[in-house]
Amino acid sequence: MFIDVSGLKKSYTTGLVTNEVLKGVEMKLGKGEIGVILGPSGSGKSTLMNIIGGVDRGDSGKVIVDGVEINNLNDNELTEYRREDIGFVFQFYNLIPNLTVGENIEVVSNISKSALNIDEVLTAVEMQDKKHRFPRELSGGEQQRVSIARAIVKNPKLLLCDEPTGALDYQTSRSILRLLQQVNKEFGTTILMITHNGAISAMANRVFKMRSGEIIEDSVNQLTISAERIEW
Ligand SMILES: Nc1ncnc2c1ncn2[C@@H]1O[C@H](COP(=O)(O)OP(=O)(O)OP(=O)(O)O)[C@@H](O)[C@H]1O
Ligand SMILES: [Mg+2]
Repeated sequence: MFIDVSGLKKSYTTGLVTNEVLKGVEMKLGKGEIGVILGPSGSGKSTLMNIIGGVDRGDSGKVIVDGVEINNLNDNELTEYRREDIGFVFQFYNLIPNLTVGENIEVVSNISKSALNIDEVLTAVEMQDKKHRFPRELSGGEQQRVSIARAIVKNPKLLLCDEPTGALDYQTSRSILRLLQQVNKEFGTTILMITHNGAISAMANRVFKMRSGEIIEDSVNQLTISAERIEW
């Protein structure tokens, strides 16, 4: 399995209160697959994704990504892993406001070893003609296209998307999902996506339902549908 999480636990302590946020998570996702995580607010979805992406560390359990146990990496190795292997896409784009579209992508491609060509990536997300615009001159959907371009330009093994369509209307959401599907096909990128929209799970190979720190259901879709055919 490309992602193999077992017995993963994580607690946060604030003041005197300790909150067990992940209570022994089990999750497996194959290489080149699309996985969707569904679950109520506060159930631990982002915490789980951040640990898989090397932004945070688990307290115990195993997190193996592409054969590497990332809980065993030291800080430098973890930074390297995050930089080379992982692409992140968030609900609120996180683009750098005083850099153009092209420059926002360049910042990432400059520091990664296996970077793809910037123009090729911009063409893939259909933003080539807006390369010299600033983020404030773009619509939400266009900004999300740029943030996807920024995430995929380093040719990551794993694309982690935390509610990528959370701020978008349904037509725009559909085009973003189509784009993610296309990235998955063209580049063979494994994708793990958090969403509140259960309908989106129809395009995933595996669907994980989370409830208060655990995966309570894990299902496999034999037949996935294209983003165009998702019923909202
Ligand atoms: N850095 C932190 N310090 C303390 N508590 C935290 C921290 N990060 C998350 N939590 C707590 O962990 C729990 C799970 O948070 P998480 O962000 O993983 O939920 P989520 O499922 O992504 O929710 P949402 O759908 O609202 O984004 C919440 O109760 C949250 O308050
Ligand atoms: Mg979250």
